[in-house]
Amino acid sequence: MDRIDLIRREIDTVIEQIPSPAVKRGAALHIYGVSQLCALLASRRGLDVELAIIAGLLHDIYRYKAMTGREHAHLGAAMSRKLLEDLGCFTKAETEAVTGAIYYHSDKSERHLPLDEVLKDADVLQRILYDPGYKTGTWERSRMERLSEELGLRLR
Ligand SMILES: [Fe+2]
Repeated sequence: MDRIDLIRREIDTVIEQIPSPAVKRGAALHIYGVSQLCALLASRRGLDVELAIIAGLLHDIYRYKAMTGREHAHLGAAMSRKLLEDLGCFTKAETEAVTGAIYYHSDKSERHLPLDEVLKDADVLQRILYDPGYKTGTWERSRMERLSEELGLRLR
């Protein structure tokens, strides 16, 4: 089993435990949508696609495990670090890259490392592609404008 599949198996067990069918469907769409958009953006920006996909798969692990968005980025980074270390097939640098992106992904009005920005952009983009009526905040709008220009889209 490759490393992406290992992570998919882990996150699928989290999704499976969500009691509400509607929330479960939303979680699966969001997690897999974000991971695919991470692949697209990482590929476009010349970054590590595998790590981007893994960051996308794990970024809301705490949110869906604890069913709360409170502090979910920081707590999810810690939870993901433990998971990646336990799996034993990620280097220290890879673990840092993935958990760093998860740690900062709620700080969308700030700029961080390239992989961190891929995850933040993918997180916002998935919500807008899922619901074009999604009301973006000011910080999301400027991120969307940059993304629209980069990808040649007319998102807003
Ligand atoms: Fe998310």
